[in-house]
Amino acid sequence: TEKELDDIYAFAIQLGKDAGKLLLEAAQLRFAGPQTTTLDVEEKESSVDIVTKTDQEVETFIKTSIEAKYPHHNFIGEETTPLSPCLSPTPTPTWCIDPLDGTVNYTHLFPIFCVSISLLVSGRPIIGVINAPLLNQLFTSCLGRGAYLNETTPLPLIRNPTIPPMPENAPQGCIFACEWGKDRRDVPDGNLYRKVESFVNMAKESGGMVQGVRSLGSAAMGLAYTAMGGVDVWWEGGCWEWDVAAGIAILQEAGGLVTTANPPEDPDTAEIEEVGLGSRLYLAIRPAGPSKTESGREGQ
Ligand code: IPD
Repeated sequence: TEKELDDIYAFAIQLGKDAGKLLLEAAQLRFAGPQTTTLDVEEKESSVDIVTKTDQEVETFIKTSIEAKYPHHNFIGEETTPLSPCLSPTPTPTWCIDPLDGTVNYTHLFPIFCVSISLLVSGRPIIGVINAPLLNQLFTSCLGRGAYLNETTPLPLIRNPTIPPMPENAPQGCIFACEWGKDRRDVPDGNLYRKVESFVNMAKESGGMVQGVRSLGSAAMGLAYTAMGGVDVWWEGGCWEWDVAAGIAILQEAGGLVTTANPPEDPDTAEIEEVGLGSRLYLAIRPAGPSKTESGREGQ
């Protein structure tokens, strides 16, 4: 029911705030605590794929809190759930969380790191909470209830309905962000360079320049900033459900678009198809403002 959804949403927001507080305390302790504070970083697949004690502790906190409040819900977490296939869409509400997205940033105290919490129903993310505690930025959304920054400012921040989601000659004039992921194979068409090059080249072909290329180090924050309107186009290949579920919920609720970035067979006739989860490749486009929910078009 609507009331149940409101309660779950309130719970998710509080959980995001509490987990954000734990992240902040742990960061402060690591960087300003006694000399005996250990680094506690472990490598997973490679030296760029790392996990810290903080990831594990925050995941345990979130998992325990959810189990206590909603024992019948499912749970998928980066540090608990074995990698793919972890997502089989089910009508049972499923929490999909990354306790610390942007772990590398966190270990350097580069401020773009966050906790990312989402609730999926039948594979669709309907609630999203992303809290970046060092930046004081809390992004939240619930299906049909709008997307917000710090609970009161509606997303996208662009308030002028005549501003289109893309500059006329996009990607010319865009801020483009892509995640470098964890693939460091240094080949000419490898993951790292292909993303940046393809957008820069597309802009060149249309006779112009991308205005900026960014790589934030957190897929969740990349999607949150696209929902905010600060990033025009965002692209990641190689991420997992927990990296993107909350960001997708927030972006879609703000009126943005997310699709898989697989090239269509015939680009001239292809229509952009909205996707849920289940891909490892996502392309997101920022909303034009204001969002569908706000302008009252939703549900008419
Ligand atoms: C990673 C970050 C990174 C993205 C990777 C993710 P983690 O998550 O979101 O930006 O490129 O694909 O796995 O390991 O920091 O939680």
